[in-house]
Amino acid sequence: MFDKAKILVIDDDEVIRDSCKQIISEQNHQVELANNGHIGLQKINEMKPDLVLIDLKMPGMDGMTLIDTVHQLDSNVIMIVITGYATIESAVEAIKLGAYDFLPKPFTPNELRIVTKRGLERRKLILETETLRKEKEKLRENFITLVSHELRSPLAAVQQNLMAITKGMAGMIPEKIKNILLKMSTRINYLIALINDWLNMSRIETGELIREMEPVDLKVILSDVIDQLKPLAKEKQVTLQLHIPEKYPEIMGNRETLQMLFTNLIDNGIKYNKNNGMVDITLEGIGDYTKVAIRDNGIGIPKEKLPLIFEQFYRVKQDVSIQGSGLGLSIAKQIAEAHYGSIEVQSEINVGTTFTVLLP
Ligand SMILES: Nc1ncnc2c1ncn2[C@@H]1O[C@H](COP(=O)(O)OP(=O)(O)O)[C@@H](O)[C@H]1O
Ligand SMILES: [Mg+2]
Repeated sequence: MFDKAKILVIDDDEVIRDSCKQIISEQNHQVELANNGHIGLQKINEMKPDLVLIDLKMPGMDGMTLIDTVHQLDSNVIMIVITGYATIESAVEAIKLGAYDFLPKPFTPNELRIVTKRGLERRKLILETETLRKEKEKLRENFITLVSHELRSPLAAVQQNLMAITKGMAGMIPEKIKNILLKMSTRINYLIALINDWLNMSRIETGELIREMEPVDLKVILSDVIDQLKPLAKEKQVTLQLHIPEKYPEIMGNRETLQMLFTNLIDNGIKYNKNNGMVDITLEGIGDYTKVAIRDNGIGIPKEKLPLIFEQFYRVKQDVSIQGSGLGLSIAKQIAEAHYGSIEVQSEINVGTTFTVLLP
């Protein structure tokens, strides 16, 4: 139990205020009084009470309005309604608005003690849950840091060494061994990409990656992404085309994550494509929105799988040789939503897929 809780009594009836104060003070709690809703609200802001006893019928601001307001301000405050006309309807309404319990007038000292005790137990539980939630969040953040340092760094070091060996920097090696090492290197690259996706996802979820918004030029971002993906496109024999009108709006956004968003979508368009396929990227301004459509004529996605592709780790198992973490689209969606935008998909098997990104 609370050793010393902070309790506020809001009632226009002096006798009730004083008797409440007397009974509750006996239990060592700190008690403050207010004789109307406005003063009550002011005191709530000042003292941050654990529990508030509120009279339903008061001149000026009535109890219901007060309960509603307090609940909006801080839904963790326990509110107990004191009511002289205890109808079921009024009690239900108060509880709907956020009250925890109610105490019909006239009440005995013992009834008051029981109701406040129960309310404070509830308050304690809420605070404990909140502390646990924060601890869990902290653990999660630590875990992300741990993964990035303890897993990614050594992998990157192994990769570095493999590269040195395959490039002949540690002396000549037989072709056969070189090929094995190159295969190892591919697998490690894939692992590093998976860890990067996973870290990015966590950072986006905690809001760490999208704190700063600035005016960004989508043409620059899309051109950069295309330049970076050119080698992959060449390897897959896929043509990339960018169509941008003369005039298009600048948007407020976060450069790094927008780059990530379009990389994921264009990368998919290349990966899930056929030889001599194409990925067509168009940008246009539509009213208050900028629309970027990424259209490919690749393998397509079965209709029944479309609702699932934005889920974390989900992959349509069509071609097992195409590697990926299954996180790309979920990351892209979160980035679009953090920009108050959206992503939609249209697809037809063996015809192609179009992802449409709308950004305000
Ligand atoms: N342009 C596309 N054409 C066909 N299938 C796609 C396309 N983009 C995404 N997909 C499907 O959606 C799944 C999820 O995509 P994504 O989240 O980027 O994960 P990953 O590419 O790492 O597998 C992919 O595994 C693939 O099956
Ligand atoms: Mg992908």
